[in-house]
Amino acid sequence: MYLCSFYLKKQYLCSQNDKEMDEIQRIKQLRQELHEHNYRYYVLNQPTIGDQDFDFLMHELQDLEARHPEMADPNSPTQRVGSDLNAEFTQVTHKYPMLSLANTYNEQDVADWYESVKKGLAGEDFEVCCEMKYDGLSISLTYVDGRLTQAVTRGDGVHGDDVTANVKTIRSIPLVLAAPAPADDLFATPSYPREFEIRGEILMPWAVFEKLNKEREEAEEPLFANPRNAASGTLKSQKSSLVASRQLDAYLYYLLGEELPADGHFENLETARSWGFKISEGMKKVKTLQQIYDFINYWDTERKNLPVATDGIVLKVNSLRQQRALGFTAKSPRWAIAYKFKAERVCTRLNEVTYQVGRTGAVTPVANMDPVQLAGTTVKRATLNNEDFIRSFDLHIGDYVFVEKGGEIIPKIVGVDLDKRLPGAQPVKFVTHCPECGSELRRNEDEAGTFCPNDMHCPPQIKGKLEHFIGRKAMNLDSLGEGKVEILYDCGLVKNIADFYDLTFSQLLGIEKRFPAEDGKPERVVSFREKTVENILAGIAQSKQVPFERVLFAIGIRYVGETTAKKLARFFKNIDALSAATREELMEVNDVGDRVADSIIGYFNNPENLEIVIRLRKAGLQFEMAEDEGVASSDELQGKSVVVSGVFTISRDDIKKMIEQHGGKNVSSISKNTDFVLAGEKMGPEKRKKAEALGVPIISEEEFYKMIGAI
Ligand code: IVH
Repeated sequence: MYLCSFYLKKQYLCSQNDKEMDEIQRIKQLRQELHEHNYRYYVLNQPTIGDQDFDFLMHELQDLEARHPEMADPNSPTQRVGSDLNAEFTQVTHKYPMLSLANTYNEQDVADWYESVKKGLAGEDFEVCCEMKYDGLSISLTYVDGRLTQAVTRGDGVHGDDVTANVKTIRSIPLVLAAPAPADDLFATPSYPREFEIRGEILMPWAVFEKLNKEREEAEEPLFANPRNAASGTLKSQKSSLVASRQLDAYLYYLLGEELPADGHFENLETARSWGFKISEGMKKVKTLQQIYDFINYWDTERKNLPVATDGIVLKVNSLRQQRALGFTAKSPRWAIAYKFKAERVCTRLNEVTYQVGRTGAVTPVANMDPVQLAGTTVKRATLNNEDFIRSFDLHIGDYVFVEKGGEIIPKIVGVDLDKRLPGAQPVKFVTHCPECGSELRRNEDEAGTFCPNDMHCPPQIKGKLEHFIGRKAMNLDSLGEGKVEILYDCGLVKNIADFYDLTFSQLLGIEKRFPAEDGKPERVVSFREKTVENILAGIAQSKQVPFERVLFAIGIRYVGETTAKKLARFFKNIDALSAATREELMEVNDVGDRVADSIIGYFNNPENLEIVIRLRKAGLQFEMAEDEGVASSDELQGKSVVVSGVFTISRDDIKKMIEQHGGKNVSSISKNTDFVLAGEKMGPEKRKKAEALGVPIISEEEFYKMIGAI
């Protein structure tokens, strides 16, 4: 009996063991398969399985990894989904500085460079590698033993931000390298060096960029000006899960290290392609100046068919030995140069100038032109910036204007074809009255902008004030959002910020607005259902707890930004003292000058504003500093940048708050501009090293309390 049960137990344990072993094998197999599928899909553009099958394998791996925490691997394909953790970037010193390239704009400049190389190499034969100049965000990737260990942005060229977690979510960047070893030699060393860096560009493909901007437009969020800004904003996000969702891509163009495979730059990149990196297909080795021009001319038009933005061609002397012989100037290598494409330009007729009034009252003239194709889109409007801009071109209605689209998405007028101006054409006269409310426009001396002074009753300005009031850094009424505020304004329920606090359930329920289909966007209906209304009213009720300094920012006194509002709140402690303050008293506050002081006085001299403040106060908003906020404040750390690192006797949030309360600014990474590092226990060794290297003082928690007069 005993024997039998022992035997069964052993059998059970053995089969358990087998199962564990099988699962571990399966994890390894799945990781390899998924790395390969990623590579086929994102680098080669040749997937061999469908999305569903891919997801299926990924889920299987996720499940198995959850059951085998001992197999955790930061470079597993499952790590590409990112996380929502708020990680502060640390700064890293580049092993090799990230230099930029000298720019050229015409064939003569290219010829001069070619001659200078010839001379520098004393007549020796040389080859030039021609490649695309990608218009994104440069990145330096470090691989050790075939695994991605670090990804750092260019930063100031000497130090960059460590964005490894974010970069890992970019599918075309291999986390683990393929090592094609000769099939007959199982013990061959991998073809990649044990440690190397590879540099390239992170890009947002055009298609992803256009989709993202369309979504942002629908959500009434500010648009990205171009894919470069979108890629950069995305990569610097603190949420790697957001980065993962943005479908960034990466092309690599520069291999660095002590033991590179070959002397040729082109050959090294071709080898790197076999390790799994995405390398431009368009790269070409040439010898003569004419071949360089041919390459430039071919890609000047062909680049429009590429999935990502390019803004020129990079020319590099191919041999690394010759590169070393040529060396560097202070800023850039002598062995390479960038040729920038000319911005595309078309000529079209100016039909009319219309005027847009912004949320701050700024009036912007807009050129309405005959529709024309430019860099892949139809252009019919362009900004004219301001009155001086119109004057500088002496614009007339009916003029033929040159329109360009450079790196930016918004086209601009760069000139007029005077030969085509018809006799009797009328000069453009800048509008004198606001097209929205009819008020006479104003322009301050020494300022280029024209504005509508009717800030209390001009519709776009009222909407601007309402939107500012609900903003995240103001009252944070995120249940309302810009779209809904506009509806409430349009239906007459909210005409000023105090009206939010009079809204009732029955007024809001059932409000509906149809946004007709336009510019290819489908019809949209926004309706206030029960749940929406409950959320709105709960948000409004909660906002009554928002501290005084934010309320002061939210009410929208011109020139009183977030920081000035904080300083004013701490100095005057309540709205009564602030509203009664004289110009001199106001100017006692750090950073408050004539312009801000006059604006505050003007605000409280206006009976309409006073009425709004009275109503908000009655509604229960905070118009004085809470006890604990006021007491501890000082100007001891005024203008100082502080980096907090380590563990303290109180929470880090409280420490950071104290820094702000005493006028300091919290910054996340150490630079030469940091005034001091406030170090708790277990301060990060990297940070300590960096502070010491830059000579930034390191201050203990106790010293800090003494500094601000707390002990
Ligand atoms: S090579 C030392 N190759 O252009 C030279 N750069 O101002 C290292 N760029 O910061 C750069 N495409 O971000 C190189 N094919 C290419 C490039 C390229 C784009 C960017 C890169 C660099 C800037 C040069």
